[in-house]
Amino acid sequence: MPKILTSQLTKKQAQLFDFVEKFQQRKNYSPALHDMANHFGVSIPTISQHVDYLEKKGYVVRQKGVKYSIQIIKNLRDIKDVQPNPTGEIFNISNKEKLQKKIETGLGSIFFTKQYKINQIYNINCLELMKNIRDNSIELIFADPPYNLSGSNFKMKFKKSGGADLNTNKGQWDHYGDIEFEEFTRKWLTECFRILKPNGSIWVAGSYHNIYLTGYLMKKLGFEILNEILWHKSDATPNLSCTRFVADHENFIWARKGKGNIFNYDIMKKLNDGKQMRSIWTRGKTAGGKRIHPTQKPEWLLERIVMATSKTKNIVFDPFMGSGTTAVVAKKYGRKYLGSELDRDYFKKAIERINQTTCQNII
Ligand SMILES: C[S@@+](CC[C@H](N)C(=O)[O-])C[C@H]1O[C@@H](n2cnc3c(N)ncnc32)[C@H](O)[C@@H]1O
Repeated sequence: MPKILTSQLTKKQAQLFDFVEKFQQRKNYSPALHDMANHFGVSIPTISQHVDYLEKKGYVVRQKGVKYSIQIIKNLRDIKDVQPNPTGEIFNISNKEKLQKKIETGLGSIFFTKQYKINQIYNINCLELMKNIRDNSIELIFADPPYNLSGSNFKMKFKKSGGADLNTNKGQWDHYGDIEFEEFTRKWLTECFRILKPNGSIWVAGSYHNIYLTGYLMKKLGFEILNEILWHKSDATPNLSCTRFVADHENFIWARKGKGNIFNYDIMKKLNDGKQMRSIWTRGKTAGGKRIHPTQKPEWLLERIVMATSKTKNIVFDPFMGSGTTAVVAKKYGRKYLGSELDRDYFKKAIERINQTTCQNII
């Protein structure tokens, strides 16, 4: 921690700041009050008071009453456009507020460094990309993460019918041990919570394999769940083992971080023949052209999500871009996009798709 920061804090506050920073670097999520209290051997109210001071001085922000929500204002050292004030401080509350206003009104860069840009996707780990995005800067997140369902490794060839082969193994990216999967899910959701605007929305896709863990963690992190949408797949693959029901739906959790989120009620009603839009959406997997990814989402589904919960020029962020469906739809509807995809081949295919897309509708 640079001297210039510590000089503005008491010794205790500086130690606490240091602890929070190191804890986050190590674990990729924030310490809870009890972690800090245990570490310093003091009571939770005492620690809470110290955190209050750090917050008042503009070093951290937190949502009171929400566990793991303490966030370092990491940009302290990176802000280039903040002028030193006459007392020699590099940062003060009013500068922080000004920067936050700029980000919220879309005038400030949402990145900590110049290396990243809006309307791009990156061939990197989503945790790395999110680390570089400022707090409270994204209007809409759509996340279609690994569901961790590839363990069963069931394969079948459809020789007679000429249909696509069935393979429950979607790729190495979908293999996790239970503990590792929970840890990974917690990490990326924690980052999503941090970068989402207070009035933004998040959607997370899943199936029975991951959706219960996801919903549980989202609530713990402070998200408020608004709806669960069920996509009823009208062209689902039959259950070939004949030992279970046909799994012909996927789940989408729609949640928010604070109040004031967008819901384009009238557009949704119009799309549903003048009746209120329901939470079960029945339609096929293949709508929207040829599939180039084993778990590619149809464009119609993303269109509905983007139209319902964002407006023109909003930033739509997808940590798990796959074949780029989210970016394609965002571009089509005059939104900005941003995302990451680890797999080089899917990344390249996503870029091709995005480049072939033009903005068609401003809704
Ligand atoms: C369920 S698929 C997304 C499919 C996408 N919605 C589409 O329509 O094509 C999940 C993707 O996340 C990628 N992935 C897995 N872990 C990742 C990580 N840590 N960071 C970025 N991408 C990751 C996988 O390579 C995979 O392509």
